[in-house]
Amino acid sequence: MLKPRIAVLVSGGGTNLQSLIDAQSCSRLSSGEIALVIASKSGAFALERAKTAQIETETVDRAAFSSQTAFEERLLAVLVAHQIDLIVLAGFMHILSAAFVTRYPERIVNVHPSLIPAYCGKGFYGIKVHEAVLAAGESETGATVHMVNEVPDGGRIILQQSVPVFQSDTSKTLQRRVMEQAEWILLPRAVEQLCADLIAQEKSGASMRQQNLFELLKNNPYPGRGIVLGLTPDGKKAALAYFIMGRSAGSRSRAFVKNGDDIGIHMLDGGKTADTSLILYTPLRKLRSAVVVTNGDQTDTICAALANGGTFETALRTRTFEPDAPHFTPRISGMLDFSDGFSYKLSILKAGDEVGKTTLRQTFDVEPLAGAGHFIHTYQTDGAVLPSFSGEPVAVAILNDFAAFAQGLWGALNPENKVSLYVRYTDLTTSQYEDRIFNQYAQYATKGEPA
Ligand code: GAR
Repeated sequence: MLKPRIAVLVSGGGTNLQSLIDAQSCSRLSSGEIALVIASKSGAFALERAKTAQIETETVDRAAFSSQTAFEERLLAVLVAHQIDLIVLAGFMHILSAAFVTRYPERIVNVHPSLIPAYCGKGFYGIKVHEAVLAAGESETGATVHMVNEVPDGGRIILQQSVPVFQSDTSKTLQRRVMEQAEWILLPRAVEQLCADLIAQEKSGASMRQQNLFELLKNNPYPGRGIVLGLTPDGKKAALAYFIMGRSAGSRSRAFVKNGDDIGIHMLDGGKTADTSLILYTPLRKLRSAVVVTNGDQTDTICAALANGGTFETALRTRTFEPDAPHFTPRISGMLDFSDGFSYKLSILKAGDEVGKTTLRQTFDVEPLAGAGHFIHTYQTDGAVLPSFSGEPVAVAILNDFAAFAQGLWGALNPENKVSLYVRYTDLTTSQYEDRIFNQYAQYATKGEPA
């Protein structure tokens, strides 16, 4: 990608679009290229601004579509046809559905005329925001540029600027001040920053192929148990994450606990009567220059083999999927190998036939790439009979910021089903690691209680 191709989506006057055009013409916006302006209202003045600047335009008139789905399908078709990398909502007066925004994870940005989280969400748009600020007698307001996710005005904040409210203000004078002192400055700055980040990400090796892990998880109510292994964008740290989700009382009555360099599972009171053969095990063990992480007691099988000169693959050849008919839950395993530089492996053992008699064993031996990780999980999604994961591990983006990665993952897991998450970043030079446990039902691990 030389320069990310930007589409600006508008509904009205387009002064924010103008701020982007002006920034482009004086090189304050130079890392991206405004390739397209899409108006959701025919005759929007923003279209005139685009034409004057010789930018291609399209009208996708919301009023001409009988449903939001049909409107968004057309929007998507236009965006894909123009090979758009980044979408900027600049005075775009429609809420986009979760189905739409997940097509462009971390690639849609919005400018909103308030200090989010104040005066935002459904019903707060355009002049209505300023009317509400005045009605509440606020002395300060402002504008926010943020990423767009499935929560209206709820995505990650990129830039924010406050602006004073005066006694003499009308909604129109206030709107103008917020635009002049905040929106028109913040929006070009944020778009330039995002485009520069996209270019840097690609240069560091993380290409458009890496999916946004958080968005993937938010859209999947029941991936089951999952392993993520990868390398941070700066190439300095090996990333590892393991989460468990559960539907039964036994499965939910668990907490991860720390045991030296290993991670164990503690059974809480609610699960005392459950069959623990598949739910109590050691998810993670460190063994010399390897870290093994799995969703069952194959952690021990792998570690025993490694200790005796065997390999990850030979160990797993002795194991099969779980005997929990009718699901036949796959056994998933991962290994970080620090013995000769750094590499990692992922494996899945799954039922190779419908009756669960034969095992299909797949191992993925990965040469790490800065900024990229691989995600494998037990189930494609929820179901009465849980469908096993299928295909290759999903290429996902890893962040440099440990806390943002760990918190982002925990926040993205379905709150009804998530049980525990462990995240570890290991420094490739010093072998030191930072880690964090999240438990939905108990904090034993952080209190250091025994497993
Ligand atoms: C701007 O104030 C923008 O922040 C706001 O509408 C106005 C559009 O002006 N957007 C929203 O309220 C979105 N929730 P413009 O068409 O002149 O850029």
